[in-house]
Amino acid sequence: MEIRVTDAPRVDWTGDALAIGLFEDAIELTGDLAQLNEKLAGTLKELIEETEFKGSAGSSAVTRVGAGSSIRKIMLVGLGKADALGLDSVRRAAAAIARLAKQQKSKTLGISLPVVNDDSAGTAQAIAEGLVLALHQDNRFKSESEDKGIKLEQVEILGLGGQDAAIAKAHALCTGVILARELVAAPANAVTPVTMAQTAEAIAQEHGLAVEILERDECEKLGMGAFLGVAQASDLPPKFIHLTYKPEGTPKRKLAIVGKGLTFDSGGLNIKVAGSGIEMMKTDMGGAAATLGAAKAIAQLKPDVEVHFISAATENMISGRAMHPGDILTASNGKTIEINNTDAEGRLTLADALVFAEKLGVDAIVDLATLTGACIIALGNDIAGLWSSDDTLASQLKAASEAAGEKLWQMPMEEKYFEGMKSPIADMKNTGPRAGGSITAALFLKQFVKETPWAHLDVAGPVWSDKEDGCNNAGATGFPVRTLVNWVLSQS
Ligand code: BES
Ligand code: MG
Ligand code: ZN
Repeated sequence: MEIRVTDAPRVDWTGDALAIGLFEDAIELTGDLAQLNEKLAGTLKELIEETEFKGSAGSSAVTRVGAGSSIRKIMLVGLGKADALGLDSVRRAAAAIARLAKQQKSKTLGISLPVVNDDSAGTAQAIAEGLVLALHQDNRFKSESEDKGIKLEQVEILGLGGQDAAIAKAHALCTGVILARELVAAPANAVTPVTMAQTAEAIAQEHGLAVEILERDECEKLGMGAFLGVAQASDLPPKFIHLTYKPEGTPKRKLAIVGKGLTFDSGGLNIKVAGSGIEMMKTDMGGAAATLGAAKAIAQLKPDVEVHFISAATENMISGRAMHPGDILTASNGKTIEINNTDAEGRLTLADALVFAEKLGVDAIVDLATLTGACIIALGNDIAGLWSSDDTLASQLKAASEAAGEKLWQMPMEEKYFEGMKSPIADMKNTGPRAGGSITAALFLKQFVKETPWAHLDVAGPVWSDKEDGCNNAGATGFPVRTLVNWVLSQS
């Protein structure tokens, strides 16, 4: 699908389908819309009346235009109230339009949506993201593609002529989001620590990044006892992935992104019981997937910032070699951990990954992890939890997520709760009481970062969506690749 931008007036557009966004309670056919209505022999007015179209967010209406017209179909999408317009409104509207165009078998599409806050580049980018991401369909595991038939070939975004760079940026970003989606959606017999490392190598090769994969013995030398404790029951080798993007010259800043990379989480000997969603635990590498997705996008967008992409990838399995509940592990910063629950494994792998990231001397570290069911209980499936010891970093991430249309909510770093993690025999336990489970998980991670400004995103809910929503289709969402990329770009 080719996306173009043009300043051609919408009254003159010709092609299969013309899509127009309208605000709630502001659907009068005045100005050029009156002209268009006249040109289409009153079809626009009829469509609004017959479908009682009011412009509410998420609503849409479609009709065929009479034979002989220069447009075959006209589509209306509701944008909600004008004063609530944001980049995500146009991203969502574009996603709805893309789905309508697919359903209506349109090959050529014209889109007319309002510019958000005079930000033509941001608007063009959000529209392109909505189109590309809503049309992404994963057929890799079907014997026959379900994506047959007429395809949308060309889209023209009207009123945004000159915004070609924004479209190119959206395309680059979407390759990262789609990579993350495909990694998360793939089952644990397709995406393993070994294939994750291969994916990292492929990204490095294709986009000119440096890559280092540490094998088990190298991790041992670095003292990564927490990561290797989790990995020890798996028949697959653990892979510690480290990709580096370095701009030419001296970078403005050095950043690290660290993703939880559990390609399957059985729970270990504290095995996940029926009803716990064990069959969804292929998604437990969602953090690592978004980390690699961000790497792919950033490598193409080339900001003036050095970025390290890190994941300690493994599976949490059971076998005669499995760590026992009660075992004590020593992490690479020398801290000892009493394992009171083998299912709290993500924080163990992250512990060593965070120590590794800090040793690189970066200016900030952001980790992202499908870390706790408790975060889903707190914030639901659509919102990720954000914890940070640094207000500046927290604000940067909130701004990045806002523009991305990926929701974050800052949660408290309540030091007092760490009392629940005290161990009589080791420096700490790996789990605290049930109450506040996502907070104690964040406090645990904090033990492995000394001075560097650090933030933790618990993305257990939003990496997966049961239903289509905005530019997400049902399934893996690619959350929070767009936020990460926006954040990195904001630092250059
Ligand atoms: N991977 C899970 C968290 C999770 C749960 C992600 C549901 C997505 C959906 C994590 O490793 C885990 O098992 N966490 C435990 C922690 C508990 C043992 C303290 C949990 O949330 O139940
Ligand atoms: Mg677990
Ligand atoms: Zn897990």
